[in-house]
Amino acid sequence: MTKEEVLQVLSQVIHPAKGIDIVDLGRVEDLDVVPESSKGDPAKVRFKYVTFTPDPMAAQIKQDCTDAIQAQFPGTKVSIIELVRPKDAPKSVKLPEGQEELENVGKMIAVASGKGGVGKSTVAVNLAVALANMGYRVGLADADVYGPSVPKMTGTEGAQPDVYVSNEGKSDQKELIMPIEKYGVKWMSIGYFAKPEQALIWRGPMACNALKQMILQVRWDALDYLLIDLPPGTGDIHISLVQDMPLTGALIVSTPQDVALADVEKSVNLFRNEHINKRIIGLVENMAYFTPEDLPDRKYYIFGKGGCEKLAGKYGFPLLGQIPLVQGIREGGDEGVPSSVSGGIIGDAFTDLAKKLVEEVGK
Ligand SMILES: Nc1ncnc2c1ncn2[C@@H]1O[C@H](COP(=O)(O)OP(=O)(O)O)[C@@H](O)[C@H]1O
Ligand SMILES: [Mg+2]
Repeated sequence: MTKEEVLQVLSQVIHPAKGIDIVDLGRVEDLDVVPESSKGDPAKVRFKYVTFTPDPMAAQIKQDCTDAIQAQFPGTKVSIIELVRPKDAPKSVKLPEGQEELENVGKMIAVASGKGGVGKSTVAVNLAVALANMGYRVGLADADVYGPSVPKMTGTEGAQPDVYVSNEGKSDQKELIMPIEKYGVKWMSIGYFAKPEQALIWRGPMACNALKQMILQVRWDALDYLLIDLPPGTGDIHISLVQDMPLTGALIVSTPQDVALADVEKSVNLFRNEHINKRIIGLVENMAYFTPEDLPDRKYYIFGKGGCEKLAGKYGFPLLGQIPLVQGIREGGDEGVPSSVSGGIIGDAFTDLAKKLVEEVGK
């Protein structure tokens, strides 16, 4: 059983509403065929069934695909991921010069917070992995040029990005940085180029330029989601970034205590400022409660309860998720294996958040 043979079978499956086969419709992606093993494990076929709006026929078509494959190759295990791609908004808009690399990026979402240490990077990294696990094409740019944490959190410290030369020899020759791929996500961070102590002495304009390079001079290729992990605060870097980039919106991260919420509100107001006016997609409450790993049913609201809900209510945006304070999340960050890689209760919290985000962005 080869990939070509499976594609041949799939091209006999006709979409009932469109009268065209699903391969010609471009619905089949990332087809993976694993033949029967010598130990007798059954052959496996995996692919994504991709649409741009929810397809009411999807369940029927998935069944048709499974039947067709198993009729031809009895005993084959078939798994089909159904995926609704976000509409590629920026594609239809002419992007300004210098932003060409974002042409095939569907949604660009900033993960922000007025305050440091609330878990922006943790949420951004785990959310990226959760989205990738759902089948989306995901990139994450670490915009915290003063304190990049993505390399450590993803176990990619010391990785050296390749350089890609586009239009070589032509007048518009450009050098682009290749992102580092791990856990199904494309990562980019200033941490791959400079030691943290170097970055710390940068003045505003240099930091701004470095940051823009981390987003604009990267060969992202086609992405469904590009997340931007912002540094804490509401300074020049934020203003320049959110003003100049084709952001879809921002995801705000906070912890429940009042001191955090006060700073977060400043961040909310930055995005809502009339000159910036970017959408706030929703709020994530991190460290919402403490759960001991050996007593997963217990919830201790050590930083208070209901603060984020109140803030979300005040401005009328949704609270998209509540992530518990769990030792495993901190350990995962320090060890370079994001918690959402392995699933479990913590993984579920991030998968839940990812689903809500996809839903909300699509509105
Ligand atoms: N839900 C959580 N449970 C346990 N530890 C967490 C959680 N969220 C973040 N942390 C830890 O808190 C510290 C700060 O998180 P980080 O994501 O770097 O914050 P920020 O990017 O907002 O500065 C890290 O050590 C991280 O592992
Ligand atoms: Mg951070």
